[in-house]
Amino acid sequence: MIIAANLKTNLTRLQTTEYMNEIESFLKTKNINQEVLVFPAMSSLNSHVGNVIVGAQNAYGVQNGAFTGEIGKDHLDEFGINTILIGHSERRHILGETQDAVVEKFNFYKELGFKIVYCIGESLQIREAGNKIMMNYLNSQFEGIDLEYENLIVAYEPVWAIGTGLTPTLEDITTIHKELKSGFKAPLLYGGSVKVTNAKDVLALDGVDGVLVGSAALYAEHFCTMIEYAQNLEVN
Ligand code: 13P
Repeated sequence: MIIAANLKTNLTRLQTTEYMNEIESFLKTKNINQEVLVFPAMSSLNSHVGNVIVGAQNAYGVQNGAFTGEIGKDHLDEFGINTILIGHSERRHILGETQDAVVEKFNFYKELGFKIVYCIGESLQIREAGNKIMMNYLNSQFEGIDLEYENLIVAYEPVWAIGTGLTPTLEDITTIHKELKSGFKAPLLYGGSVKVTNAKDVLALDGVDGVLVGSAALYAEHFCTMIEYAQNLEVN
């Protein structure tokens, strides 16, 4: 399974180093062989030796250049990073990234062979408009995206479930994942208020290949517990 932590705008470089050390030592002690990804804040990116894959929450689709406030591939290369999160709802809705911009970024990093965690998700308003409208909306977020890309991981993150403590029912997650997975072979993660108390149930669902965790992953101990759930589910 794939267990991913999106640290968003949290944890300084020093805190992130401590965090990574804690996760690595847990993986070693418990002999974990799940795929663990961590997306630190931009200024907390660093070279990392170990089993955790470090990814960027964002980067502009350029090698380098005049794009104030952005980083490019050169900056990821410095730390040996070849994994990136693209299409997160906070970038789409808060920072105004359009589908065209998302596609451009996707294509740039796809050409370079990056592992891409590509996020989709609907707002509450769209969810309340009914299943058909919701599925159409979710599928519209795949427009221009190569779903056959071999290093693709998709994350379904309902916007209304992010950071709110609300989650779809387990039945809803199962149904939506099943429908989404009919369109691609890539692993599909669920994200949105995953925490220690619900991670085991979510990870056990058919069609859930892992989780993308925000706030609850800020505590290394909690993130490790979720990693262990995934490990136990695969062993048993
Ligand atoms: P929360 O786990 O805080 O709801 O955030 C989920 C998320 O946005 C992960 O990318």
